[in-house]
This record gives sequence, structure tokens and C-alpha cells, in this order.
Amino acid sequence: MDEPGREDLHDIGTICKITRVEHGEGSSHVILQGLVRVRLRDLVSDKEYMIAAYEELEALSIKVDDDTQARIDVLLEEILDLAKRLSNMVDNENGDKIFDQFIGSIDNPITKIYRIAHVAPEIELADLQKMLAIESTQELLELMLAKLSHQSSIIQLRQEIADQTREDLDQQQREHVLRQQKRAIEQALGEEDGDEDIAEIKDQLRQANLPEIAQKEIDRELKRLARMSPNAADYQVARSYLELVAELPWNVVTEDTLDLEHAQSVLDEDHYGLDDIKERILESLAVLQLNPDARASILCLVGPPGVGKTSLGQSIARAMGRKFERMSLGGLHDEAELRGHRRTYIGAMPGRILQGVRRAGVRNPVLMLDEIDKLGHDFRGDPSAALMEILDPAQNKEFRDNYLNLAFDLSKVFFITTANTLEGIPRALVDRMEVLELTGYSELEKAEIARRYLIPRQKDNAGLKDGSFDIVDDALRRIIRRYTREAGVRELERTLGRIARKRARQLLQENRDQDQIHEEDLNDLLGPEKFKSDKGRENLTAGVAPGLAWTESGGDVLYVEASLTHKDDKVTITGHLGQVMQESIKAARSYIWASAEELHIDRKLIEDSGIHVHVPAGAVPKDGPSAGITMATALASAYSNKHVRDDIAMTGELTLSGLVLPVGGIREKVLAAHRTGIRHVILPKENEAELFKLPDLVREEMEVTLVDRFEDAVKVAIPDLEPES
Ligand SMILES: Nc1ncnc2c1ncn2[C@@H]1O[C@H](COP(=O)(O)OP(=O)(O)OP(=O)(O)O)[C@@H](O)[C@H]1O
Ligand SMILES: [Mg+2]
Repeated sequence: MDEPGREDLHDIGTICKITRVEHGEGSSHVILQGLVRVRLRDLVSDKEYMIAAYEELEALSIKVDDDTQARIDVLLEEILDLAKRLSNMVDNENGDKIFDQFIGSIDNPITKIYRIAHVAPEIELADLQKMLAIESTQELLELMLAKLSHQSSIIQLRQEIADQTREDLDQQQREHVLRQQKRAIEQALGEEDGDEDIAEIKDQLRQANLPEIAQKEIDRELKRLARMSPNAADYQVARSYLELVAELPWNVVTEDTLDLEHAQSVLDEDHYGLDDIKERILESLAVLQLNPDARASILCLVGPPGVGKTSLGQSIARAMGRKFERMSLGGLHDEAELRGHRRTYIGAMPGRILQGVRRAGVRNPVLMLDEIDKLGHDFRGDPSAALMEILDPAQNKEFRDNYLNLAFDLSKVFFITTANTLEGIPRALVDRMEVLELTGYSELEKAEIARRYLIPRQKDNAGLKDGSFDIVDDALRRIIRRYTREAGVRELERTLGRIARKRARQLLQENRDQDQIHEEDLNDLLGPEKFKSDKGRENLTAGVAPGLAWTESGGDVLYVEASLTHKDDKVTITGHLGQVMQESIKAARSYIWASAEELHIDRKLIEDSGIHVHVPAGAVPKDGPSAGITMATALASAYSNKHVRDDIAMTGELTLSGLVLPVGGIREKVLAAHRTGIRHVILPKENEAELFKLPDLVREEMEVTLVDRFEDAVKVAIPDLEPES
């Protein structure tokens, strides 16, 4: 109460002595010693604190000297007795001690009563006040006795309830024990199916034909199982372990088809083009044919999405006549996912590799490990280290999965890994594999793949008859150009699938059965075009330069934008560019400043203005030195206020002295330019040899300017730079 007044106070109270004050956090404790009962007469002051006038009350006495004396003596005895019993109920070990300490040590019987009132559990404040105010000894004792008996019956009731529940529990436990005994008796009488179960597993294990060492280990495990109750949780764990052991293909192999001609025809049947890749695959198979004991090389197929890595793996398996199993390692952090968890671990399982082999059902499958570039690593261990061991021919003959905990021979497995990029794969792992790079397809290759593989497949999927899914050339080209933009053919296949399904419905509803698909039909079938123009941006403003980038999903055209800002802003860079790219912007600026005269750029303008460089298109990972000449061209254009041609694109690293150095991913980049409708590219001279990797038709259509100095590039890119003389 914030402001207590007279009306909030009781008439009877106690004069106390403050014996101690303890200050705690946010609160204080005051310890009082009661001295004498008083009656409040008047408030003398209520300024800072209340001051009151009072009269002392005569203390009650246990001696009354009249005919009630006998009753009082009995009451007192009853109360003390009950209080002692209560104390024992609350704490049945120390009850007596507590009673003696708090009550027994007091001489004055009335004080004893007040003290009992104080320490007795759960007497309400109102009752306590009433006891304090009572003027008759007999009344006080009667009220006290009533309160204590009430308390004791409550405590007794609680204990009875608690005992009841405990009994219920005891009953349950007893039943549990009885049931277990019953089970043991049944087992002894052979009424359980435990033995039968074990016999069955034994039989399976015998058929699995385990290596000798493993067999010994397993015999021990079988004995352990026989000793267990089939109902125990451990029994199931041990049983599923033995089941796995029995299911693993310890000695099951398929016979390889090593006929190279057959292999060649299978590869050709499944995939268009990819000649050099197929060549390398056949070489690997030839080695296996000449020396069947030779360790198969581990192939690593690298390339953008949808170029056929996974399906090539399947095709290799088919060519060799082997079983194929595929597992994705993308996002896998935990080494235990590859090698399994120890069996002591709750919910333990074998790792992915062993599961793959088990699914394949043979010891020599083609195992495809997809997305090894997306392996993570953290505190749970580095899965790439485990992978290294799995792929190492010297170690994988005795591969030990944590769960299986027996050596299993993986040396006959033909491993194929795939990745979108070699970046992020540990060097040591890359060295262990034979890397085959698949690059993207040109428009014509895509059309060919569509004609031979994708359209027939989608036609069958949709249940269309021959001749009813006939896409004319122009329409197919338009689908490739305007509805997809990718290095591979996955989106293309999906789009063709959509057309096929729409077509099937149309044919059913309209009862037509033969009709070609023309360009005009596409809007109806696929909706508006996704990529409006074949071209990149048109009519570039000064400061914008088209560059070529290489990404995991193939090549891409990207535009570098530069614009002059206030002098104080110096160099501002936006668009989430990596460190190397930021540095190449600074190097480009320094180079342009140094060569301002040759480039016909006003050096004073460079000195007197800041520059802001931005690279839009968030999805493109923007780092690496290969945008050097693009950056410099954008800067030159911004400083000169002359625009860059919109029909070209460029790539090349730039040194501080103006040299153009070779860069990677040329084929992908040129294909991307071609895809975007750009027909003129500026490339480093040293990359010339890689132009031969381009499909003939693309190479014929492209104009290529090879440069080894930046001035030569910028002259082509910004035709107006040189003042007309
Ligand atoms: N050269 C080709 N000839 C015939 N079909 C091809 C060719 N290249 C790709 N395809 C087809 O394209 C589809 C996508 O290929 P696939 O799934 O193998 O791509 P991927 O390289 O594994 O892609 P990701 O990196 O996304 O896994 C498959 O249906 C495949 O058969
Ligand atoms: Mg794949």
C-alpha cells in the first residue's frame, strides 16, 4: 500500500524492536522482535512516517484461578501435543528437533502459543490477527486448537492421497515384472518365435557368402542375438544390422561387356555430339578390357546444369553392362553420412556409399556421386577427406563403414563423380580423378538434341502418335531462343514436355490428329515469350560496356556500368563484386589515367571526378580477373562520354601496363554471346587456340577480334573514341 492511513490499521498490534535490517537486490528484510501487545489510541503524526499514541495491554496469563483453569490446562496440553505431531508430519525425521528448537525452548506458555501460531503452516493472516486481539486465555487456546486440528487433518489427507498414487504405481511395476517373467517362461517352453527368427537370419547370412574374417565377427554377433529377448529394444538393432550384412553383395558381381564397338554404339545412341568425351570414356573402357585387374579410373564429369552429366553416367553403365546407382552429395556436411554412424549411436545407419552398393545389389556397380562440388564441411568432419579415402584405389579395397564395422571391398566399383565447377573441390581430390569437361551446347546442337532425343521422349511421355507432335524448324529455333536461355537442355526438355501435354489435350478435345506446330502456335501453347529479344541491350549509353562472364550454369553476357560522380566520392563500387574484381577496377582506372593521352581522354576530368562502377544481374558470381578489359572499356566510355557498340562483347584480364592476358571459359562465353544474338567478340590473343573448341557453325558466324593490348580492344569497342582527323 503506497499511502496507508488510520483506517488501514488494526486496533491491536505489537510493539517491536528492529533487530536487523538486510538490504537485498531491490528489497529489504527487516527482522523484528515482538515486545508487548498494545492498543492503538491515536495517530499523532502521519508526515514522514506514522507516529501513534498507544496503551499497553495486560499480558494474558495461563493461570486464571477460577473454574476454567482445568479446561485451560487440558487445552494447552492438547495444543502442544498436536503441534509436536504436526511438526513430525511435516518433517518425519527432524520433527521433534524442530519442535524443541522453536517451541520447547520458550518458557512462557502464552508466548509458546503465539510462536506456534507464527510457525504453524498455513494459518491465515486474519486468524493470526484475531489471535493477537483475543483478551481471554480460554478463547485463544480454543481458537488455536481448532486451527491446528484443521491443519493436521489437511496434511493427513494429502498424505493419504500421495500414498494412494504410490500404490497405483507399485501395482503397475508389479505387473511389468510379472509380464517379463511370463515371457521368460514362454521362451523356456519354446513358445516364442525367437529361435525361428534367428534361424532365418542365419540362413540369409549363409547365402551371402561372407569373407572369412567377416563371418567370424558375424558368428559372434549371432550368439549375442540368441541370448537376447526378442522383445528387447537391442534385439531389433542387432537384427537389422545382421540383415544389412546379409543383404550386402559381398560376392555378387555382374559380367562386364567390354566390347568397344558395342560401347560406342550405346554412347551414341543415348547422346548427341560430345565426341571427345565419348572418346575418353572408350579409352577408359579399353584399359579395363586389356587388364581386367587394373583399377578403373575415376571419371569426373564437370559442366553446367542440364548438359547431360547424369545421363552420360547412366549411359556408361549401360555400355559396360553394369548396374547404376546415383547419390547426390550436395549439401552433405557430415562425414558420417558417407561412412555411417557407429552402431552404438541411437538410430545409426550405414553411410550413403554402402547404401548405394546395397541398393545396386552387386559389388561392381557404376556409382555416380553427384554434385561433389557442393560438399560442405564443418565441425562434424570433412566429408571430402572421407571421399578421398573412398576413391583411393589403395584404400578402398578395405573400406570400413562405421556402422558395418567390417572391411568391404569397393575396389571393383566404377566411380563417376559430377560437378558444375572444379572450384571448391580440394586439389588432392581433383588429382585423383580423370576430369572430363562438358561445355554448353550451341543453338544448333540443342536443336539436334531436341529432334533426336527430347521430342521423341516427350512425345512418348504424352502418349502422342507419330506425326502428331511435329514441330517445324522455325518454331523449334524460336523455342530455344525465346523461351529458354541456358547452357544445357533441361529447360528445353521441360518446355517441350509442356507443349506435348498441351498438344495431347488439344487433340483429344478437337478431334484432330495431324497438325504441325508453327511459330504462330507458340504463344497459344507456351504463353508470351520469356526472352523478348535475341539481342543483348541496344543503344548503350556512355559508360556501359558488355562483358562475358563464366558461371557454374554456363556463360553469360553481363553489362558493366560506370558513371562519373563528385570528386570527393573517389571510387564507388556496387553490385557485390569480389575482391579481385574490385582491384581490377582500380587498376583499370590507373591505367586509363596513365594512358589518357593515347586514349584521347581528358586526364583532368579523371582527376576532378569520382567514379561509380556497378555490375547488375545479381545471379552472376562476380569475381575473377576476366572482366578487366570490360571494366576499363566502361571507364573509358564514361570519361570520354562516347558510347560502346551494342553488338559486341568482350573478355580479358588487363594488366597495369595495358596488356590483355588470357582467361578461362572461352567456349562457354562465346556460346553465351551467340545465344544472346551478339556476333562479335573481343578476346585475348592468347586464347586463340580455344576457338577450335567451338562448334563449326558458331565459329563461322562469329566475328572475333583477338587483342594483346587494351588500346586495340577499346578502338574496336568505342569507334568514336579517336577524333576524326
Ligand atoms: N548430348 C545430349 N544428347 C541427348 N540428350 C542429352 C544430351 N545432353 C543432355 N541431354 C538430356 O538432357 C537432360 C538433362 O541432362 P542431365 O540430367 O544428365 O544433366 P546434368 O548435366 O546431370 O545436369 P545437372 O548438373 O543439373 O545435374 C537429360 O534428359 C539428358 O538425357
Ligand atoms: Mg545431374
